[in-house]
Amino acid sequence: MALSQGPAQPEIIALTNQQQAPVAQPGIMQIAPYVPGKSKAAGGKETFKLSSNESPLGASPKAVEAFRAVADQLHLYPDGGSEALREAIAGRYGLNPRHIVCGAGSDELLQLIAHAYLGPGDEAIHTTHGFLVYPIAIRANGATPVVAPETDYTASVDAILARVTAKTAMVFLANPNNPTGTYVVFNEVKRLAQALPPRVVLVVDAAYAEYVRRNDYEAGIELVATMPNVIMTRTFSKAYGLAALRLGWAYCPPQIADVLNRIRGPFNVNLAAQAAGVAAINDTSHLEDAVRHNDRWMAWLVKELAALGLEATPSVGNFLLIHFPDAKGRDAHAADDHLSANGVVLRRLDGYGLPGALRATIGSEAANRALVAGLKSFLGKGA
Ligand SMILES: Cc1ncc(COP(=O)(O)O)c(C=O)c1O
Repeated sequence: MALSQGPAQPEIIALTNQQQAPVAQPGIMQIAPYVPGKSKAAGGKETFKLSSNESPLGASPKAVEAFRAVADQLHLYPDGGSEALREAIAGRYGLNPRHIVCGAGSDELLQLIAHAYLGPGDEAIHTTHGFLVYPIAIRANGATPVVAPETDYTASVDAILARVTAKTAMVFLANPNNPTGTYVVFNEVKRLAQALPPRVVLVVDAAYAEYVRRNDYEAGIELVATMPNVIMTRTFSKAYGLAALRLGWAYCPPQIADVLNRIRGPFNVNLAAQAAGVAAINDTSHLEDAVRHNDRWMAWLVKELAALGLEATPSVGNFLLIHFPDAKGRDAHAADDHLSANGVVLRRLDGYGLPGALRATIGSEAANRALVAGLKSFLGKGA
């Protein structure tokens, strides 16, 4: 074992090859990798993808035009501060653009927020069926996820507060929540924000806010404006139909915006996303069309499901959680197999602790009708 030259390095020499392999930071190997919804149905039928909560109306034609218009600028770095986009978002919602941070999808912002404020020894709370990126972001930074139970698939402020300890550094609240479609009324979110110790960051993830039409809902703007520890995240992936471009934004208290700007990639939002995002946010009529389409077909689907005897959790998002009986051949997995064989792809939810349910995005008219026809034949009720 002795080396012929130089000082002895016993520790290094004693290591086996395997021990010398790089070791990930604490927590990372406990992460269950995120599994996105399937894109393709089995058997080559026409596929209606209702597994990822994408907009059936697509992007605004103005956003598509803006995307095309930057095709000859691909050799240029984008504006690192996403200034025009922040101005456009700020103008639309009456916000201070300096308090907005843009990201490559709200996923990136959730990761940045966790990275900035979580470390080993910290706890971060999310609810039972909260968005799966939260436990990933928590563990990726060595912190410990703490699960707060829900009531009727809805986050409970009391349950969250009951889990706050001296170690709690963050609370993630998806409002509305994916995959349940439920929401927490504004007074309750406010009560949560006010009851949390000021050192705890409250992340209100409002990815589906554009779809919500309820007087008792508020996406989080007011709380961010009045509290130093609340962040609201938003996305262009859902109602704006720009999922492929990866674009999201966070509205933050100034100190938090400053922190996120220090750690984000200097050019984290690409040129095409910035250009399309500005056009999309200014095309309010396309957004209204998308929300109107969602309202109309959500109501239709709820009625059709009820007529089939299937239970769906009331949803304010652009998707529905459909429950199936726990009976062999009639359960959620069997339904998914049948629908998939008929060209309709829904989201299995075993990873969310909901193996008895499937999540269906509100799709185009053809997709929604194909879903109901597929369910009818699955239940033996004739298509
Ligand atoms: C609750 C919630 N938050 C955040 C996201 C992430 O969206 P994106 O990274 O596309 O902005 C999603 C996407 O499914 C979501 O459902």
